[in-house]
Amino acid sequence: MKRSRLALAVAAFALVAIAATTMAAGSGSGSGGNRRVASGGAPTWANVAPIFAEKCAGCHTPGGIAPFSLLSAQSAKAHANGILVMTKLGRMPPWMPGHDSPAYLGQSRRILTPAEKQLIARWVRGGARIGGGGAVKPVGGTSSAPGTTMTLTSAQSYMPKAAVGGLDDYHCFLLEPHLTQDAYVTSAVIKPQQATIVHHVILFEAAGENATEARHLNEASGGKGWTCFGGPGLSETHPTATSADVDRLGVPPWIAAWVPGHANNALPAGTGVLVHAGAAIVMQVHYNLIHKAKRDRSRAVIRFAPAATTKLTPLNTILVPAPVELPCPRNVHSSLCSRDAAVQQEVKKYGYNAALIPAGLLYICGRSLADYPQSPASVKSLSTSCDRRVTRPLRIYGVAGHMHTRGYDIKIELNGKMLLHIPRWNFHWQDAYYLEHPVDANVGDAIHVSCKFDNSAVKQPLVNGRLLKPRYVLWGEGTTDEMCLGLLQAADR
Ligand code: HEC
Repeated sequence: MKRSRLALAVAAFALVAIAATTMAAGSGSGSGGNRRVASGGAPTWANVAPIFAEKCAGCHTPGGIAPFSLLSAQSAKAHANGILVMTKLGRMPPWMPGHDSPAYLGQSRRILTPAEKQLIARWVRGGARIGGGGAVKPVGGTSSAPGTTMTLTSAQSYMPKAAVGGLDDYHCFLLEPHLTQDAYVTSAVIKPQQATIVHHVILFEAAGENATEARHLNEASGGKGWTCFGGPGLSETHPTATSADVDRLGVPPWIAAWVPGHANNALPAGTGVLVHAGAAIVMQVHYNLIHKAKRDRSRAVIRFAPAATTKLTPLNTILVPAPVELPCPRNVHSSLCSRDAAVQQEVKKYGYNAALIPAGLLYICGRSLADYPQSPASVKSLSTSCDRRVTRPLRIYGVAGHMHTRGYDIKIELNGKMLLHIPRWNFHWQDAYYLEHPVDANVGDAIHVSCKFDNSAVKQPLVNGRLLKPRYVLWGEGTTDEMCLGLLQAADR
């Protein structure tokens, strides 16, 4: 076989690299390794490190949320087989939207190209050779979004505990931006104090009555914040007549979501989310306690641009909820399996108004209980959906889905065009997705949200290490309740 100059060069480079590792590590890599080097085939750390730096190291960093670092060649080599499996299956990097979803901003940093997957596979199969490779740095971004940066944190630190679910805690902190005038948020990055446990974060605006309530909850906790789950744990206020308020159905609006690896968490260029003068911000933190719980006081680094003097397109939150009516499996006989009992439970837990929501959702979606069989043969694939008519011209920039732990598939469509499909929903990987090409919606268009749930005995939430008993499940804020919610961030046109 005629060897090209390139192959010779690669082989020579690899030999030098092997010599360097041998010296560094104090031991050879074995005769097998040397033979491969001579044939000039397998890639080394130097070839794969840039991929790991760009697409993995936001999480796989020492002290990060992921279980090992991908910044050091030795650590990557030690996990080579796992890396091969997880990248081949498309499980890592975690990217929730399915193939039928449209393109989102920044997704190229969250998806491996086929060539990158192949290179990683060749590296692993070739013995995960280290070569001369030293440590690499994660590729990060600095925000160029307009505005000035404010770093906000809670008054007190908090010691997470798995109060909700086996290894998870959802906690809401009060942040006070002390805005004296309305301002746009253009970017929001979370700097976890305990990066090993901060899994994802959602920021909500708490204005008006919500601000008062959030401040009361925070005071009652001594400044440490409060336990929350599906949302910020604030009561729904009565929507006023303004169209943006009605879209939110009285629920506090989303500002932004963050997951580890979002180094530059900017809203789409030219847009911002309005936060009102005097408003508080609720930071909902999901702690994943696979790693040891440690006292945490994470910071939110938020860019604010004054609304009066900055020309930005304001994004409003539009909620598209669907009814949730999940009966018990047929073979389960318990008083908790009656819908009336479920409604009574909601009255007890959240008050009379919250308990009206299930009926309200049936009404606004034009459904009745007859659409939801009360004793289906199987509860493994219970579905629900809702169509919402667009009432004024919109430009849709961002889209997110929200269910709790029994949900496994959510779709949000506009006139049949997919805006977001998460085929394997995971409550622990929540994020907002910004469309690469914003989509216009016109008066009369239908926004369709649809969800699938599994209410089997084995799919019940784990609370304090124990699976709960199956019960009739309705829409509600708590861990043991469910939601089917499409969330759009859109501007009026
Ligand atoms: C957004 C954060 C994030 C990114 C980006 C990411 N990972 Fe992970 N990774 C995790 C977390 C967290 C876990 C722990 C298991 C879980 O929660 O799914 C994990 C687990 C893994 C595991 C399995 C470990 C085990 O023993 O179960 C492998 C292998 C892995 N990641 C490889 C990669 C590779 C390779 C990349 C880049 C191509 C990558 N990950 C990108 C967060 C991330």
